[in-house]
Amino acid sequence: MNKNNLSKEAKLTNRNVYVSYKEKGNKKYINSTVLNALLMEVNDFKSFSELILNFDKEIKDINRFKELFNKVNGGYPLAYALGKANFIDLEIKVNKYTLIPRPETEELVTKAVDYVRKFGVPRGNICDCCTGSGAIALAMKKYFPDSNVYACDHSKEAIEVAKENSKNLSLDVTFFIGNKVNPIINSGLKMDIFLSNPPYVEHFDEIDEDVKKYEPLDAIYLKNGYEFYEDFFKHHKEFMKEHFMMGFEINYDQEEKLTELVEKYFDVEHTAYSFSKDFYGKMRFLFIFGGVVIEE
Ligand SMILES: C[S@@+](CC[C@H](N)C(=O)[O-])C[C@H]1O[C@@H](n2cnc3c(N)ncnc32)[C@H](O)[C@@H]1O
Repeated sequence: MNKNNLSKEAKLTNRNVYVSYKEKGNKKYINSTVLNALLMEVNDFKSFSELILNFDKEIKDINRFKELFNKVNGGYPLAYALGKANFIDLEIKVNKYTLIPRPETEELVTKAVDYVRKFGVPRGNICDCCTGSGAIALAMKKYFPDSNVYACDHSKEAIEVAKENSKNLSLDVTFFIGNKVNPIINSGLKMDIFLSNPPYVEHFDEIDEDVKKYEPLDAIYLKNGYEFYEDFFKHHKEFMKEHFMMGFEINYDQEEKLTELVEKYFDVEHTAYSFSKDFYGKMRFLFIFGGVVIEE
């Protein structure tokens, strides 16, 4: 190796790679968070602080870095490129068969946990319907290890990923494959808590082009955005106990119609429900509490 090559090699520190690829990256997809995640991945670093401590050391695998960078720079989701995503404090495997868990869904879980603690909602049996990667179910099991957690999805491939996550994280969840909530109804189980982030976006043009291109469309898009909620509401007595909590992620424009559906299918004298917004300020969650006596 001649002197020139040596000095070229010696310049491949994490810092130099970071600076030069930040410069050449497409601003839509490449930012500090993405570059740090890629550098952590190709160096096998477990934490951001490990990367910072080694910022001036040579990058471990520049070819893998370039390969991942090119994918992400072309719009391929970072989580799919890495094969993993963070959900609350869990590292979850994801692939093209599973939706990448969103921050709003983390909020659905943290709200549910807050309600359980605040209102003393029973939590013997918990279900996550339309589980995808298993994110909601696994997070609930982590919060409530002594609860029985069940999860279902119609995608056999997604359930395989969810099962792998359950094993890797040592969080015991029972999985079912089937349409909507049917596998739970057929099992004869009755839930205390039911959470779901079902497909609900009915305005196709509102879905981001990269999401359409890379993520499973049937996880998001639905011709009738109320189909899943209506099915859950209509059949709730077949899979919920008398005292229960149901929590849903919903679309920003669904409050009015969902109010109608709640009033149609639940015993409103003994049911409380509330809509709330996500941290972006968009209407996003519906919680229904059954077996509650409402004060006049
Ligand atoms: C919005 S994704 C939610 C995934 C995951 N719970 C999350 O929050 O990241 C909706 C999920 O519903 C599943 N799904 C779509 N149609 C279904 C059906 N008819 N019955 C059961 N699951 C269905 C998809 O496979 C997908 O995993």
